[in-house]
Amino acid sequence: MSERQEELKFAYWVPNVSGGLVVSTIEQRTDWSVEYNQKLAQTAERAGFDYALSQIRFTAGYGADNQHESVSFSQALLHATTKLKVLAAILPGPWSPAVVAKQIATIDHISSGRIGINVVSGWFKGEFTAIGEPWLEHDERYRRSREFIEALKGIWTQDNFTYRGDFYRFNNYTLSPKPVQKPYPEIFQGGSSRAARDNAASVSDWYFTNGNTPENLKLQIDDIQVKAANNDHKVRIGVNAFVIARDTEEEARAVLDDIIAHAHVEAVHAFGDAARQAGSASPEGEGNWAKSTFEDLVQYNDGFRTNLIGTPRQIAERIVELKAVGVDLILAGFLHFIEEVEYFGQKVLPLVRELEETALRRKAA
Ligand SMILES: Cc1cc2nc3c(=O)[nH]c(=O)nc-3n(C[C@H](O)[C@H](O)[C@H](O)COP(=O)(O)O)c2cc1C
Repeated sequence: MSERQEELKFAYWVPNVSGGLVVSTIEQRTDWSVEYNQKLAQTAERAGFDYALSQIRFTAGYGADNQHESVSFSQALLHATTKLKVLAAILPGPWSPAVVAKQIATIDHISSGRIGINVVSGWFKGEFTAIGEPWLEHDERYRRSREFIEALKGIWTQDNFTYRGDFYRFNNYTLSPKPVQKPYPEIFQGGSSRAARDNAASVSDWYFTNGNTPENLKLQIDDIQVKAANNDHKVRIGVNAFVIARDTEEEARAVLDDIIAHAHVEAVHAFGDAARQAGSASPEGEGNWAKSTFEDLVQYNDGFRTNLIGTPRQIAERIVELKAVGVDLILAGFLHFIEEVEYFGQKVLPLVRELEETALRRKAA
C-alpha cells in the first residue's frame, strides 16, 4: 500500500445548482449565482482549498430548481481565480468524448492548466428520459464511462488515436492542441458500487465516494487499492463530507439537528427513491445510497456520515483519521458557504497541517 506522506488535499462543492447542499428549508446563506460563486472561489483559494467541484444536472426532479451547466460555469470560476483547480462534472451520454477532449483542452490553455473533470455515470433516470437520452442499466453505464475515460486519455496523449469500443470509436484522430497539463488534466470519477470501484482501480486518477465512517471507507479503499496495484494503476481517493465547524460541539450538533428538523420531506423521499433505484440497481447492491437513511439523504451524498461536525479540533482529528485509512482528499459541503469556507481555512486547516506534521514526525522517529 502506498506511503501516505503527501498533504491531504481539500475540495469544496460548487453550489452551481440552487438550494444549497442540503435538502432542507433551513436558512442557507449560499447562492447559486455566478457572482456569489466567483467570490466563493476566491475565498476558497485564499483559505487553502485545492479544488472546486461543480455539479451537473439537466433537470430539477427534486429541489435544485435551477442548475447552471458545469463546464461553462467552471470557466467563470477559473477566470476569477489564479491557483484553484476547477473540476467540471461530465456525464457520458449527453457528452461525447470527442467534444469533451476538445473543450477541456482549450479550457486548459485558457486557465494555464487548472481544469480537471469528474466523470459521473448518472443515477437519475427521469433526467435522462427528459432529455431524450437512452437509460442504460447500472453496470452498462459504468462500462460506457470506462470507455469514455479510455478514449479521453488516448485523445489527450496520442496522435493518430484509434479506438474500437462498444460505445465509442475513433479513427486515426489527432487532437491539436493537446492540453497544457501532462500527461492530461486529472480525471475524477464517482460512485460506490462494484463497477464504480473497478473503474477507479483501472482508469481513473481519482475516485470520489459518498460520505461514510472511516471503517466503511477503509473497506472500499482497500478493495480499490489492492485491485489497482494488480492493474499497476495509481488512484487517489476523495470522500464527501458535510462540514459543520463551530466553536463548541453543542452549537455544531444543534445546526445538524436543525437541518434535519427542517428537511424537505417530500423532496428527500423523491430523491431517495430515484437514488436507491440507481444505487441498489447495481448487481451486488452496494451502490451509493443503498444503505442511506432518511437523515443521510438530507445531504444528498451522505455527507453527515463522515461526521466532520463539531469543533475545529474534533474535525481536524477526524480528518487525519480518514487520511490514516487511505483518504487523499476531503470534498467539503457547507451550509453558509463563503463564511464557513473562511472559518474552515482559519480554524480547521492549520490544525490538520499540524496533526499531519506530528504524524509524520512520529513515523520518522
Ligand atoms: C462526489 C460525487 C459527485 C457526483 N457528482 C454528480 C453530478 O454532478 N451529477 C450526477 O448526475 N451525478 C453525480 N454523482 C453520482 C455518481 O456519478 C454516481 O451516479 C452515483 O454515485 C451512483 O454510483 P454507484 O451506483 O456506483 O454507487 C456524484 C457522485 C459523487 C460521489
